[in-house]
Amino acid sequence: MTRAAITAVGHYLPEERLTNADLEKMVDTSDEWIRTRTGIRERRILRDKDKATSFMATEAAKSLIEKSGLDPSEIDAIILATVTPDMFFPATACLVQDAIGADRAWGFDLSAACSGFLFALSTGASLIESGRHQKVVVIGADKMSTITDYTDRTTCILFGDGAAAVLLEPNEDGYGLLDSLERCDGSQKDLLCMVGGGSLNPPTHETVDKKMHYLHQEGRHVFRYAVQGMADAAADIMERNGLSGDDVRYLVPHQANLRIIDATANRMGITTEKVMLNIERYGNTTAATIPLCLADWESQLRQGDNLILAAFGGGFTWGAAYLKWAYDGKQ
Ligand SMILES: CC(C)(COP(=O)(O)OP(=O)(O)OC[C@H]1O[C@@H](n2cnc3c(N)ncnc32)[C@H](O)[C@@H]1OP(=O)(O)O)[C@@H](O)C(=O)NCCC(=O)NCCS
Repeated sequence: MTRAAITAVGHYLPEERLTNADLEKMVDTSDEWIRTRTGIRERRILRDKDKATSFMATEAAKSLIEKSGLDPSEIDAIILATVTPDMFFPATACLVQDAIGADRAWGFDLSAACSGFLFALSTGASLIESGRHQKVVVIGADKMSTITDYTDRTTCILFGDGAAAVLLEPNEDGYGLLDSLERCDGSQKDLLCMVGGGSLNPPTHETVDKKMHYLHQEGRHVFRYAVQGMADAAADIMERNGLSGDDVRYLVPHQANLRIIDATANRMGITTEKVMLNIERYGNTTAATIPLCLADWESQLRQGDNLILAAFGGGFTWGAAYLKWAYDGKQ
């Protein structure tokens, strides 16, 4: 059976750091509150006004190409998960296609907020498993600083900018994406959303005055759903694949809040050293969190490692994936 395996990882993070100390000067908050409630110490911010999500996604794709020796002309498709596209259309995936010279590829953006990478991975894997494609690049990229209200202490402490990319290729040896589950529930759409700018509320002076072009979150409610959704998804995928905590090498969780991640790990019966965690350094980069973890941990991964990916985000959207890692990371 043909599986879709990740065969390379690339990433990009802006240089500039926005620390908790910086935020203390901007809103009524404290380093202590942020660390204990979220686990975040700093995030990366792409300050340049003329550089958007496509820039970070392109850099991530270029780093993947450089590391893997991939010829961009071989890429069949580019799936880019984001809620901060450069513009509504053309899709940011098209801008990346042009910038990296993937002259045979098609591509599109996928909007599933913090579950974006997971959904894009599953979609890309289907293209490989069906035999239609040999090389699919899946990217998670978000410039969250452009939709964050830096006067709102309940949200501005959470988000950062970043991008990461993976290459999917066919594998006949049992490595790759072995299972995935994806869910959405639009009935809770108002708890985590950005309501301005679309066809419901096209941009006007009023939408700007009412701050409708910023992300809005009812944190306490989202937290409750997120803990349950992410833990349930991770536990379900383990159960239906007969996995115990001992069988799992790493949990690769969406990085929204350390407490949500801890609850998921507890439910899975795994200890903290088996959890990929970089929320402390990057905050919540939305679609980029999971592939950024893979990039950070790549050198420690070994062929055959069992990974459980899990995410929860606006929509609501959530899900989990079971991956058998396909290659030994280089030291
Ligand atoms: C946002 C989040 C960190 C807030 O933490 P919390 O423990 O739920 O905090 P609450 O919202 O209950 O607020 C508690 C108090 O802290 C205050 N507070 C909120 N943000 C604050 C900040 N940055 N600094 C200091 N105090 C803050 C609130 O005003 C509230 O004060 P009150 O009790 O006087 O009303 C948390 O709810 C969360 O992580 N939510 C889910 C995020 C998520 O998973 N999103 C989905 C994927 S993106």
